Amino acid sequence: MSPYLPILPTTAALTLLTGVAILLWRQSRKLKEIRQALQQSEARLALASEASGLGLWSWDVPRDTIWLSPGFHAILGLDADAHFGYETFFQLIHPEDRAAMRQGFGAVTAKNPCFEVEARFIGPNGLTRTLLSRGRGSFTRTDAPYFERLVGASFDVSQQRHAEAEHKRQRDELAHLSRVATLGELTGTIAHELNQPLAAILTNAQAGRLMLDQTPPDLAELCLILDEIVADDRRAVGIIRRMRSMLKKAPPEVSLIEIPALVNETLELLRPDFAQKGITAHATFPPAPPVVMADPVQIQQILLNLLLNAADAVREQAPVDRIIAVRVREKTPDQVSIRVEDRGTGIPAERIPLLFKPFQSTKPDGLGIGLSLCRSIAEAHNGNLTLANREKGRGAVAILTLPSKGTG
Ligand SMILES: Nc1ncnc2c1ncn2[C@@H]1O[C@H](COP(=O)(O)OP(=O)(O)OP(=O)(O)O)[C@@H](O)[C@H]1O
Ligand SMILES: [Mg+2]
Repeated sequence: MSPYLPILPTTAALTLLTGVAILLWRQSRKLKEIRQALQQSEARLALASEASGLGLWSWDVPRDTIWLSPGFHAILGLDADAHFGYETFFQLIHPEDRAAMRQGFGAVTAKNPCFEVEARFIGPNGLTRTLLSRGRGSFTRTDAPYFERLVGASFDVSQQRHAEAEHKRQRDELAHLSRVATLGELTGTIAHELNQPLAAILTNAQAGRLMLDQTPPDLAELCLILDEIVADDRRAVGIIRRMRSMLKKAPPEVSLIEIPALVNETLELLRPDFAQKGITAHATFPPAPPVVMADPVQIQQILLNLLLNAADAVREQAPVDRIIAVRVREKTPDQVSIRVEDRGTGIPAERIPLLFKPFQSTKPDGLGIGLSLCRSIAEAHNGNLTLANREKGRGAVAILTLPSKGTG
């Protein structure tokens, strides 16, 4: 008899086998479904990321390989088979932005694993895109951390930045036009103001010439005359300089400026106009002059509009009320406020919502862009501008707030 007995499937074994087969079939079907769902979701993600200008990436630090999603390739027009490591990836970044990106990567630690950097990238065909990248690092151990991987997403913000730059360009252009229009209104009085030192220079020079004919000439008197000529010349130069800085069409340049000096300079520019209208303007400052980081021409433009608005509001008032008060104070250690207060007509309630809307003027010759322009300039300097009726008494008060850089 054969030693090997045939193993006959028992009913229980058969049932078990069938069960296992069904289970395997179900699992494989589930696997297939999962694979399909994964493919669909990958396709959707790729589509969404491409459509929204989103690129995904992952840097395997020990192997120094950087994986970039198809979306990332599409943003920069990279070849599908292009491969990158840390250094070759950095070649894609605009040379001026590489330091910021290296700093962003370098600042990732186990305690502080996230980073966000905005940088310009240049694709192989020379196309420049601005990408805002957010990433997170992962580390193998936390006691002696080992930097393993950095994963993240980059958003293409080029269009947004371009629109912002265009908006800024248009605002600067409009600001310049508005300055020219404002100064156009003031030229009559400014030319008159300029006439005074020029006439004084002429009179003094003629007097000096006559004095030279005397024997002996009065040298002490001549010295005084020459000093007066120098002082009048400086006055005239000052008037022209103030006009020129306001009229020049140059891109805004930020620098550290002392607010009191700028306020005084603006009041000086308006002095002849105010004198003609019988308006008195006075300013008060804190003992230490607050300093801000700003474009002086643009801040002066805000002051000019606020002061001219105040002047328009008080010019029909009784002489005693033709007063404008400018008060500079440190609101907080890092904020300076400049208040321009008048005793004028005040603002009717129905006009309050329209104040900062462009082309809303109650003046026959007003453009109505002053306040809206001034507010956008203030906001571009991380400050703000408000205008309201005074709480006590007649008139309005405009408050310009700017971030302070301490005192001068
Ligand atoms: N201090 C103020 N008191 C009363 N009303 C004011 C005051 N400042 C502004 N307004 C009102 O707000 C409106 C808008 O001011 P805004 O400076 O924007 O334009 P404008 O002075 O009319 O013209 P421009 O563009 O030449 O400055 C003014 O027409 C005026 O009705
Ligand atoms: Mg105005």
